[in-house]
Amino acid sequence: METNKRIPTRVAVVGAGFVGTTFAYALLLSGLASEIVLIDANQAKAEGEAMDLNHAVPLARPGRVWAGSYADCAGAAITVVTAGSAQRPGESRLDLTARNTEIFRQIIPQIASNNPGGIILIATNPVDVLTYASLKFSGLPENQVFGSGTILDTARFRYLLSQHFGVDARSVHAYIIGEHGDSEVPVWSLANIAGMRIPEFCAANGFHCNEPDLDSIYEQTRDAAYQIIQRKGATYYAIGSGLLRIVEAVLRDQSTVLSISSLMHDFYGLNDVCFSLPTVIDRGGVERVLRLELNPVEIEGLTRSAAVLKSTIESLHLA
Ligand SMILES: NC(=O)c1ccc[n+]([C@@H]2O[C@H](COP(=O)([O-])OP(=O)(O)OC[C@H]3O[C@@H](n4cnc5c(N)ncnc54)[C@H](O)[C@@H]3O)[C@@H](O)[C@H]2O)c1
Repeated sequence: METNKRIPTRVAVVGAGFVGTTFAYALLLSGLASEIVLIDANQAKAEGEAMDLNHAVPLARPGRVWAGSYADCAGAAITVVTAGSAQRPGESRLDLTARNTEIFRQIIPQIASNNPGGIILIATNPVDVLTYASLKFSGLPENQVFGSGTILDTARFRYLLSQHFGVDARSVHAYIIGEHGDSEVPVWSLANIAGMRIPEFCAANGFHCNEPDLDSIYEQTRDAAYQIIQRKGATYYAIGSGLLRIVEAVLRDQSTVLSISSLMHDFYGLNDVCFSLPTVIDRGGVERVLRLELNPVEIEGLTRSAAVLKSTIESLHLA
């Protein structure tokens, strides 16, 4: 008689650098996946990282970690792509584009052909442009291919607001939308704590709600990567946690609202470009992108952000 076979929960990580391995470590500690495969052009690096992670297994959660090849993407619920060149000090994310697009032209078709039913989550920068490129290179349905987008910027924004107002960051509801990068847009008009918009929260709770403070919070959010890279050369803990949050929403079919980057369809007239909006993520990936009611300043900012991304996409001749 056929016995019920355990179906492993596999997550593939392409790129075993700072971001990929920090995410893999967080995933291992979470116990969400039973199999983690690391794939990297530098095979020795992937092997060393897999060995090190496996040695944490007896102290953490059961699981199997190995350095594999694209064939091992088969059966993965999700493949997280962090491969590529990292941002250099002073370099904008968009400057990375040409280099990383060529890398993606090689790797994305290999992921998709080995796992046409799986989700591909892009973290490599510039993440919005590479998400768009990955949709083209993979040929997969658009719900299956999306980018980490502004999940990190939104986390930074909530953290900074929480510090300013003295509440748990999880009690701050606010989003950064648009590009993950210099043109990103803070949605001040909808930001709230305990259901109160920021001006009402300030008035009711004795805070000064002055514009320079709020502007500074946005600027610190937008420029955080530059500040961190200047000091330690790379950022990885917060994005590793963001990737884990997305992967958890997928593996556990949570229908969580997260700001991630996906293909736009007529959002305030913006089409055929990937950027971030609050999005419902479940086992199938992008379940739906939420429509937000933005104010005119936010619409203008988002339109500008989309234009920056579109001109980059056009210069790559991907469309
Ligand atoms: N989306 C975000 O919010 C966010 C945050 C931080 C970093 N990042 C981005 O993540 C990417 C990785 O950053 P990192 O700090 O981990 O860099 P890293 O240099 O430490 O790691 C990149 C890895 O990719 C591998 N690689 C390069 N070319 C490859 C190829 N063709 N095939 C397979 N593997 C290849 C390298 O060997 C290396 O191990 C960068 O683009 C960075 O800008 C994104």
